[in-house]
Amino acid sequence: MCGIVGYVGKKKALPILLEGIKNLEYRGYDSAGLAIIESSGIFAEKAVGRVSNLESRVKNTSSHGSLGIIHSRWATHGSPTEVNAHPHTDCKSRFFLVHNGIIENYGALKNALISNGHVFVSETDTEVLAHLIEEASHDGRVVLEDAVCKTLLRVKGTYGLAIIDAKDPGKLIAARNFSPLIVGVGRGEYFVASDASAILRHTRRVIYLNDGEVAVLTPKSRRIFNLQKKSVRHHSEKIEWRTEAVQKGGFPHFMLKEIFEEPDALLNSIRGRIDMKRGIAVLGGLTGIKEKLTNIRRIIISGMGTAYLAGLLGKYIIEELTDIPVEAELASEFRHRKYIFQKNEAAVFISQSGETADTLAALQKAKKHELLTLGVVNVVGSTIARETDAGVYQHIGPEVSVASTKAFLSQVIILTLFAIALGRERKTVSAKDARKIFLEMKKLPKAIQSILNMNEAIKEIAKKYAPYRNFLYLGRGYNLPAAHEGALKLKEISYVHAEGMAAGEMKHGPIAMIDEQFPTIFIAPKDSVYEKNISNIKEIKARNKSPTM
Ligand code: BG6
Repeated sequence: MCGIVGYVGKKKALPILLEGIKNLEYRGYDSAGLAIIESSGIFAEKAVGRVSNLESRVKNTSSHGSLGIIHSRWATHGSPTEVNAHPHTDCKSRFFLVHNGIIENYGALKNALISNGHVFVSETDTEVLAHLIEEASHDGRVVLEDAVCKTLLRVKGTYGLAIIDAKDPGKLIAARNFSPLIVGVGRGEYFVASDASAILRHTRRVIYLNDGEVAVLTPKSRRIFNLQKKSVRHHSEKIEWRTEAVQKGGFPHFMLKEIFEEPDALLNSIRGRIDMKRGIAVLGGLTGIKEKLTNIRRIIISGMGTAYLAGLLGKYIIEELTDIPVEAELASEFRHRKYIFQKNEAAVFISQSGETADTLAALQKAKKHELLTLGVVNVVGSTIARETDAGVYQHIGPEVSVASTKAFLSQVIILTLFAIALGRERKTVSAKDARKIFLEMKKLPKAIQSILNMNEAIKEIAKKYAPYRNFLYLGRGYNLPAAHEGALKLKEISYVHAEGMAAGEMKHGPIAMIDEQFPTIFIAPKDSVYEKNISNIKEIKARNKSPTM
């Protein structure tokens, strides 16, 4: 996933840019590049591979410029080469820009630019933006921000952009549309970043740009407006995360750190939200829409990846505790398919980051159809948090690892609290039943801790199964989404083929594939379907000799 950092101020930009982009390295990338405005002109450098490669290239240069941009690229259009790495520039190497997102109509724009005499060097969609700005600027007769707005009005797609002009050495432009981008507010300096962790060392005051907004930043001023140049007022907000919270804290990698934070994450998501005495769940973020919730006849829960699976579990829980039918939908499907909307329907969007493009698009669709929209989001002030009518924050601190872990548990617990809140209102859950669930919830952090304490034993099991290349995860009921999540994590983290499936489905075909080289992991706690799971396990063992766990 690409990263962006920009700086304008009085300090040397180079170390700030390099340090900022290093803080985004965990997101994965294949090349990096930067551009800084020096008194002698533009200084630009790119390198394939790690940021350290770029760093070695620039370490002997004496860069003094205090306006610059940097980017780490994850290839989408064109292979990961130096030429395709950002920043990209126009024919005269005047405008330099870095971009996250995809320009959907770049093909048509590129053809038009080529027939106007523009020469392209890269295979990227991004390069068209530099040439479009060049065209719109009419050799500098149109100021940069106007040229940028004109350009963006021609563009279809998503972008987080940071742009500089070699001939306008005090101005940094940022623009966003469906790709995360924030402005960091310092003293006599401004930052632009695709993620707050890039700039937290310098400032905690940030402005969250909305889609279709452009910011013009100089060391002493900022102006924000939409593409029609209509000013937009923004107040900066304070990020409360501690810097250590985004560092690895002694763990070899962020994912492990975040797994070990699960007990705390759960405590933080539950804290202050349980009223044991009255047997109610207190979700402050929903008080403003309490009445609307009373009339809700159907709920759709939507998200992507792990967030979607939390939603699927949420469906089971809400339907169990209330009289409301629930649909769980992948946001990427919901946004494009025909969905039969109903009156008095609410849509819940789940997203750790609050910025996932498909989930955002699904939210826009729900808003267009005037659904009541709710968010279960971790990142405060993120787009989904801002765009929904109401919501519940996860309060679990940053989840740096891209593969969601602690966020999943927190999302499930929040959906359970939500189900209890709805159930109590609708009288499908008694105070006594709510208290029972609360008591179990309160035991969870300790229970998870006791599993984490088995780390070494778990490692041994992992070693035993590491040579296998195919896994089946099976579960029923609440454990079906958990089985899907297990398979998803194995695929994403270990690059090993895994499938999650309903245990009942196994004998209707999939059993044909499994043998002694295809281990099956059963999630089979002693619940109402325990016996059924046991007979499935016996079946697999007897017929295919699959190693089962
Ligand atoms: C994917 C991650 O890219 O995004 C998943 O690999 C995550 O782990 C999904 O669940 C959705 O992210 P978010 O921020 O919307 O919860």
